[in-house]
Amino acid sequence: MQRIVLKSETDWEGWRQAARALVLTGVEPDALTWAVGGKTAPLPDATGSFHVPRALVSLASQAIQARDAERFGLLYSLVWRVNAGEKLLEDNSDPDLSLARRMALTVRADAHRMRTNMRFLAVPEDGGTRFLGWFEPAHFVLQANAQLIVRRFPDLTLSIVTPDGAAHWDGTSLLFGSGLRHAEDDEALQAWWERHRDTLLEQATEDVSVPEAEAVDEAPRSPDLPALGSVVLHATPDRAVLRSAREASACRRCPLYEPATQVVFGEGPADASVMFVGEQPGDQEDVIGRPFVGPAGQMMDRAMEEAGIDRRTVYVTNAVKHFKFTPRGKRRIHQTPEVPEIQACRFWLDVERTHVRPRFLVAMGGSAARSLLGRAVTIGRERGRPIQMPDGQTVFVTVHPSFLLRVPDEAAKAREYAAFVRDLKAIRALMTAD
Ligand code: URA
Repeated sequence: MQRIVLKSETDWEGWRQAARALVLTGVEPDALTWAVGGKTAPLPDATGSFHVPRALVSLASQAIQARDAERFGLLYSLVWRVNAGEKLLEDNSDPDLSLARRMALTVRADAHRMRTNMRFLAVPEDGGTRFLGWFEPAHFVLQANAQLIVRRFPDLTLSIVTPDGAAHWDGTSLLFGSGLRHAEDDEALQAWWERHRDTLLEQATEDVSVPEAEAVDEAPRSPDLPALGSVVLHATPDRAVLRSAREASACRRCPLYEPATQVVFGEGPADASVMFVGEQPGDQEDVIGRPFVGPAGQMMDRAMEEAGIDRRTVYVTNAVKHFKFTPRGKRRIHQTPEVPEIQACRFWLDVERTHVRPRFLVAMGGSAARSLLGRAVTIGRERGRPIQMPDGQTVFVTVHPSFLLRVPDEAAKAREYAAFVRDLKAIRALMTAD
């Protein structure tokens, strides 16, 4: 029995080279065992080449990421049989081919889950920000999919941490190193990162043998996601809020969960005296998993700063927690949520209000005002005056920051922006009174 040792669980290049040399030197699948890690023996010298159909290469590159010890041998046997002239790929009843296809299918599903469900935690680092993502994959999908994720966020510094290992991207190189077996919550992940950061980064290395993930089944998204350098950092999330955010990620109260990437829950201190409520996450919020980080969020941050409000001291959320859009080519175009969607999601806004108990609520735009007040609101008419809620909280209505982005005329835009800042200043005065 010949033992073939691969460098890692996703040593695609190592497996390819071994399979080539073994087929060319006539080593039967039954004469082999495959292992990962440890001392490698030299492969037999082989000259010549043979053709492997593209579909089989693609299948093997996915199935090799399955968490199944038999996969290396199984895939080698498929290559061996195809080389022997079997019309294997046309035989849908072949049990080995079916098994490999099932492996590839579960890998693709896991990869999709990773690329769409990961939520990043912003942690301060060297005067900038590192985005820390945590994911527990069912299969060995980190290596291949880290490439796709960093391609989506080329300007960010980020680390994707899993129990199998971690991927680190600093804007120029993608390195792989040790992971974390279990992250109880964001706090534990951040503490682990801060304790081991230097060693983890020092020991991380490039991995040139990973299978290339295929960028299939991605929801269309805008091609111009900006760097997140301006994203405001928040205090470590409150446990109760986090628990509710986790529960909300399984929400099926309305159909919006289906096309959206993920639920975007509110964030901010659990003892904030003011809660800012927007409409729904936008394209970038949907991808990143945090409210108001895109253009509307940047507009809001600027106005808050000018009004003397530190965003880190307020709770920011939305009336609707999933992004509603219509795909148009590669872009996803925002759609205003319907009343039933706002009503369905009011449940989660109430959960947040119960956790945070703010004294003041700021409804930014019509959807937020409808959610909080339970009726249609004309912003111009009700703007800026306190509206009492039955539970004692006070609502202030103002415009949505994306309205400011849409005002076409520069002079009008400046006027509207100044009025928004005025509203925020009034809220700040209340925050600091008594
Ligand atoms: N618009 C919103 O209403 N909320 C966000 O989080 C982003 C844009």
